[in-house]
Amino acid sequence: MVMIKDINKIKSPLGRQLLAWYWHNQRSLPWRKTNDPYHIWISEIMLQQTQVDTVISYYHRFLKAFSTVSSLARAPLQNVLKVWENLGYYSRARNIHAAARMIVEKFGGQIPDNWEVIQTLPGIGQYTAGAILSIAYGQAVPAVDGNVRRILCRLFAIRKPVDDTREQKQLQKLAASLIPVKHPGDFNQAMMDLGATICKAKNPDCSRCPVAHHCQARLHDLQNVLPIIRKAPAIPHRQAAAAVIRNSKGLLLVVQRPTTGLLASLWKLPGGFIKSGEDIESRLRRCVKEELGISIQPGKHLASVNHAYTHFRVTLQAYECRLLKGTPKPLGCQNWRWASLSDLKKLPLSKIDRMIVSQADNESQFSEV
Ligand code: ADE
Repeated sequence: MVMIKDINKIKSPLGRQLLAWYWHNQRSLPWRKTNDPYHIWISEIMLQQTQVDTVISYYHRFLKAFSTVSSLARAPLQNVLKVWENLGYYSRARNIHAAARMIVEKFGGQIPDNWEVIQTLPGIGQYTAGAILSIAYGQAVPAVDGNVRRILCRLFAIRKPVDDTREQKQLQKLAASLIPVKHPGDFNQAMMDLGATICKAKNPDCSRCPVAHHCQARLHDLQNVLPIIRKAPAIPHRQAAAAVIRNSKGLLLVVQRPTTGLLASLWKLPGGFIKSGEDIESRLRRCVKEELGISIQPGKHLASVNHAYTHFRVTLQAYECRLLKGTPKPLGCQNWRWASLSDLKKLPLSKIDRMIVSQADNESQFSEV
């Protein structure tokens, strides 16, 4: 491999050993076969909150649908959300879309190559800026996420809580001091691979680690103790209710969520969250009245689905509902429509909304129009 010749140009032994290991053992990933900043940007946004194995097919699908920054900028948000469907954390898709428009309008269609400027784009913080600048543009800047922090805490036996903001700033500086001038993108990706395959959160496999002899945690047998993480607050469990309302043709009433807030701009069944102690049926009636200005009568319970978001869990219950009075108006939603099954397939829905529609559909007759 050509790059192996370069290894002597890497000054620090840690960097040399990590890169040598990476060049022999790196995971073969599609975004590692390109230098195109647009492709690397899309991969890094997808990888922010999603595992590599899941990202691969979305990465291909996304670049097939939007092959350039300008085609992405021109596309309606709904199309971007549809390609993103089920990948979760939909603010990433909205940010990518808004950033593509900024890139075209302000930066001549080029992904910025400056540390401060690139972070003015929605969805790009220090980590993603570091990943894009180092991988696509060869700049010696670190990309520090939770995995890299874990590795640093172990390598240097750092005993301060890793979720402390001040400590995170220190770790960012420490990472910056380790980045080699040559091959910074490979160095950052070597850290990512090390964290994903060897220096894992639980049971790190030190026997396979290329930098084990630099590791202070291992020296002091602290590899299963570090990093120190403060106890996370308990995740609340919320209740929600959805109304399954059909018209005389069997079409289902669906609404588009507002432009901001949870799952913004995706589609769903009418309804909303229920506070503890509230009566589900009266709350559902009120939600639908506020959302669409119509009166409904909740009836048979059709389905129940559980889902976990980052900050809360939710149990969503669907009820068959009769439309008593009124014509829907977009009062608390962006839009509404009567949808057939094939319409529903084309609309972007979150995973829980897709699940509740499909369960409710199994329980009651929903005609394909
Ligand atoms: N996670 C974030 N960025 C990544 C990359 N470039 N390769 C593998 N995993 C990653």
